[in-house]
Amino acid sequence: MNEPRPIAEVPSHVQTARVVDFDVYNEPGLSHEFHETWLRLAGGEVPGLVWTIRNGGHWIPTRGEDIAKIYLDHENFSSRVMQVPRERMAGNRPIPGSYDPPEQNEFRAIINPPLLPRVIQSIEPTISGLATSLVENLKGRGECDYVADFALQLPIRVFLSYAGLPESDAAHLRHLAEEKVRPTGKMDVAEVMQALRDYLVPRIEARRANPGDDLLSQLVNGRMKDRALEVDEAVRMCSQVIVAGLDTVASALSFIMLWLSKHPEVRHELASAPEKIPAAVEEFLRMFPLVAIAREVRQDYELDGQVMKKGDIVVLSTMLHGLDERIFEHPMDFDLTRRRQVNSTFGQGTHRCPGASLARTELQIALREWLARIPDFGVKPGAEVLFTGGVVATVRQLPLVWQAK
Ligand code: HEM
Repeated sequence: MNEPRPIAEVPSHVQTARVVDFDVYNEPGLSHEFHETWLRLAGGEVPGLVWTIRNGGHWIPTRGEDIAKIYLDHENFSSRVMQVPRERMAGNRPIPGSYDPPEQNEFRAIINPPLLPRVIQSIEPTISGLATSLVENLKGRGECDYVADFALQLPIRVFLSYAGLPESDAAHLRHLAEEKVRPTGKMDVAEVMQALRDYLVPRIEARRANPGDDLLSQLVNGRMKDRALEVDEAVRMCSQVIVAGLDTVASALSFIMLWLSKHPEVRHELASAPEKIPAAVEEFLRMFPLVAIAREVRQDYELDGQVMKKGDIVVLSTMLHGLDERIFEHPMDFDLTRRRQVNSTFGQGTHRCPGASLARTELQIALREWLARIPDFGVKPGAEVLFTGGVVATVRQLPLVWQAK
């Protein structure tokens, strides 16, 4: 049963013409046509800034240009509130996601180095090995749920391998990461964080006593300007790195594979010319953005002829940037000859995704290894593919079938 969808009162400073009814979690349509439903919000004569009455009431800029502008402006827009309604942030302060500069810059100075492109390049053989073994194990089956059997498996295994943790921890960690982003009701936020703490603290302590060159060692031995990270900070930082890299990559892969299942000509082109895969991944990332994260207005700010008041919340949909037809002609078309322009799929500015290089590498390798072994596949006849909205859009399941050889 769907949760009740409470309606918030419209504050007096909101112009009436801007009020809409759009639920970033449960908007009717999101579950079947995710990106199209977001686009409907921005279509026609809709203002550049709307106010929705759902999830406590918040702003949504509808133009790519403004979305980018707000991402870039941490002076006016704080990350203290990353989700709507704001109560969802209670007891939940991810590092670095919910901090503003200058503190956030110090955290980023710890996270960025182990995720730099040249470092990720050095673990490419490991990622290829993991992707290959996952596809090899599935190939003979002729069917799978792509989300559970491949898309969610790869990023958690890559994390475990780079963090120097055993593959046997995959199910436990995946379970906790999923409870954090998509609570089933079996655990509350405090319980999930405690379970992540119970898992991480002994491993953090081991790496502090005996540092290696693995990802976890680099994160937990990182220093703030004038002090070591506290254990609680190390836990919140490692948790965000795990959680942020799981659903995102899994969903991007699943949206891409769903699209490829309906476009055999592109599948065959990429299988026979894998050197085109990096460019294809860039186009897919533009076409299938996933993140709609919030900011809190720090001081009154005017946009599109409307004042947003200090304390208001703005949700920045990366979908409305990558698919803005004012910027990208025929945005739902896959076009490798398209002129490269900035989009916000990985965010912009100080919080821009530090995992972008890892994500791109995982997506490229996953497509290359899959298409080399299973170039032809389709959605299982009769299966329904559903999506979930929220901070990160997800594909709930993607039953694929192919001719097993
Ligand atoms: C297709 C995959 C991915 C997408 C679309 C994506 C998207 C994003 C976006 C839009 C942000 C900015 C959030 C904001 O401005 O508040 C972000 C931040 C972040 N991402 Fe990613 N991400 C992806 C993969 C990854 C991976 C693989 C990792 C793991 C290393 C990762 C770790 C993070 C972290 C730690 C942050 C917070 C950075 C900060 O607040 O300074 N992401 N991501």
